[in-house]
Amino acid sequence: MEQQEQYKSLRMTVLMTPNMANFSGNVHGGAMLNLLDQVAYACASRYSGSYVVTVSVDQVFFHRPVHVGELVTFLSSVNYTGRTSMEIGVRAVSENIRLRTERHVMTCYFTMVAVNDAGMPMPVPQLQITSPTEQRRYNGAVLRRQLRREVDRRIEDIRQQGFNEMQRAHPEES
Ligand SMILES: CC(C)(COP(=O)(O)OP(=O)(O)OC[C@H]1O[C@@H](n2cnc3c(N)ncnc32)[C@H](O)[C@@H]1OP(=O)(O)O)[C@@H](O)C(=O)NCCC(=O)NCCS
Repeated sequence: MEQQEQYKSLRMTVLMTPNMANFSGNVHGGAMLNLLDQVAYACASRYSGSYVVTVSVDQVFFHRPVHVGELVTFLSSVNYTGRTSMEIGVRAVSENIRLRTERHVMTCYFTMVAVNDAGMPMPVPQLQITSPTEQRRYNGAVLRRQLRREVDRRIEDIRQQGFNEMQRAHPEES
C-alpha cells in the first residue's frame, strides 16, 4: 500500500534536442506525443506493477510551440483506476534555460490498461485518494470517462448514418 502511494506520480525531464525539430525549427508534435506516451506508460506500469498498453488518448492540443534547447518536464499522475484501466494525466511544462522562464505547454489524459503475458486485461490496485488534489483529479477523470463513452456512441451513430446514406444512394453496392 505504501509503495502504491509512492508510485501514484512520476516526473520526467527531457532536453529538446535538434533531432526532435520540425521544418520550422520547433519541436515536432510527433516527438512530443512519443514522450507523452512514454511518460504515461512509465507512470501506469510502475503504479500497477505490470505491462500496460495505451487504449486511448484524449484530445491533444498544443497551446504553444516548444523550442529546441528547452527543458520539458512531464508531470504525470494516476488520476483514476477502473478494474483494469487507469487514467494517467500528463502536464508538460517547458523551461527556457537562459531566461529561466516556464510555460505550461499542454495537459492530456491517457487511458492505459494493465495486461498479462497473454495480452489480456488484468486487475490493477485500486487508487486510494489521500488529498484534495487527488480527489479533484479523480472527479475530473470520472467525468472524462463518461464523456469518452458518449463520444464513442456519437461516433458510432455518425458512422452508421453515413453507411445508411450510402446504401440509400447506391443500393447496388450493398
Ligand atoms: C487494451 C485491450 C487489451 C482491451 O481489450 P478489451 O477487449 O477492450 O477489454 P475490456 O473490454 O475488458 O476493457 C478493458 C479496459 O479497457 C477499457 N476500454 C476499452 N475500450 C476503451 C476505450 N475506447 N476508451 C477507454 N477505455 C477503454 C475498459 O473500460 C476496461 O477498463 P476497466 O476494466 O477499468 O473498466 C485491447 O483493446 C488491446 O489490446 N488494444 C490494443 C492496445 C495497443 O496495442 N496499444 C498500442 C497501440 S500502438
